[in-house]
Amino acid sequence: DWTMGAYREEAIAKIREQVGDSHVICGLSGGVDSSVTAILLHEAIGDQLTCVFVDHGLLRQNEADEVVTMFRDHYNIKLIHADETELFLGELEGVSDPETKRKTIGKLFIDVFQKYAGEIEDAEFLAQGTLYPDVIESVSFSGGPSVTIKSHHNVGGLPEKMGLKLVEPLRELFKDEVRALGHELGLPASFIGRHPFPGPGLAIRCPGEITRDKLEILRKADAVYIDQIRKHGLYDEIWQAFVAILPVRTVGVMGDGRTYDYACALRAVTSVDGMTADYYPFSHDFLGETATRIINEVKGINRVTYDVTSKPPGTIEWE
Ligand code: XMP
Repeated sequence: DWTMGAYREEAIAKIREQVGDSHVICGLSGGVDSSVTAILLHEAIGDQLTCVFVDHGLLRQNEADEVVTMFRDHYNIKLIHADETELFLGELEGVSDPETKRKTIGKLFIDVFQKYAGEIEDAEFLAQGTLYPDVIESVSFSGGPSVTIKSHHNVGGLPEKMGLKLVEPLRELFKDEVRALGHELGLPASFIGRHPFPGPGLAIRCPGEITRDKLEILRKADAVYIDQIRKHGLYDEIWQAFVAILPVRTVGVMGDGRTYDYACALRAVTSVDGMTADYYPFSHDFLGETATRIINEVKGINRVTYDVTSKPPGTIEWE
């Protein structure tokens, strides 16, 4: 009989056999796949593992802290928190073209990862959370919400370039099996069930030029929106939900005065694999209550819209 407990033992034995006494580097994104990879490797080889978490300053509210706390403090995994916010936001200044944004982030991500990984002595292996569908997809198509460094930022050939061999302990698993394994390894259910989050992060939810101001407003609005969704018990029915801050300011009234602040769009979709999606049919009450909360609680936003575009013809993200 095949169980996740047995798979775990088998995977650990295989990792030990492949790696021996060598050192392994693992890129941690905060997503489920890279997290399960890191924890499994840590169980197998302990301190021979070092994780590198590249923080591009485009994460959601508290996200970096949560990742660092969980892996470093709770799991006791050696973790380098590469906080390169200044570098990324500096390079993105004045950039508004979506493709240029993605390329800028992808390239910097690889540079930064390589820099930090290069400082880890005796590293011989690079661990990646490649899943079975990624293995098939890499032959036919790519673009799904996977979190290996390669597909996360659409840059291949990194291990070869760094002279590292690959360890891919999830290569035989589907997403639901990775979640079951995560559960087996003690990852909290709230973490395992988290919505996918794209490699370029909030950059593609901030159409047009990215500024620190807009990012701060976006983080706050997104936190309120997700809180609303959780409070109404809708989180697990939704594939992905997030706020996009629009590159336009509109006039509003508040108290005796006028406001001139940003408009935002709420997005929520149902989907099976991210390839097609329908917008989520929130009740008008939910939407009204959420809009009121965002406008009251987030300084800088005075108008809230709901995106009712399905995919196709729309994409899930705004850029
Ligand atoms: P779109 O916007 O293309 O998104 O409908 C489909 C799914 O892919 C995610 N996504 C990405 N994931 N790197 C990623 O790891 C990326 O560059 C990227 N772009 C989009 C998106 O969040 C959705 O789940």
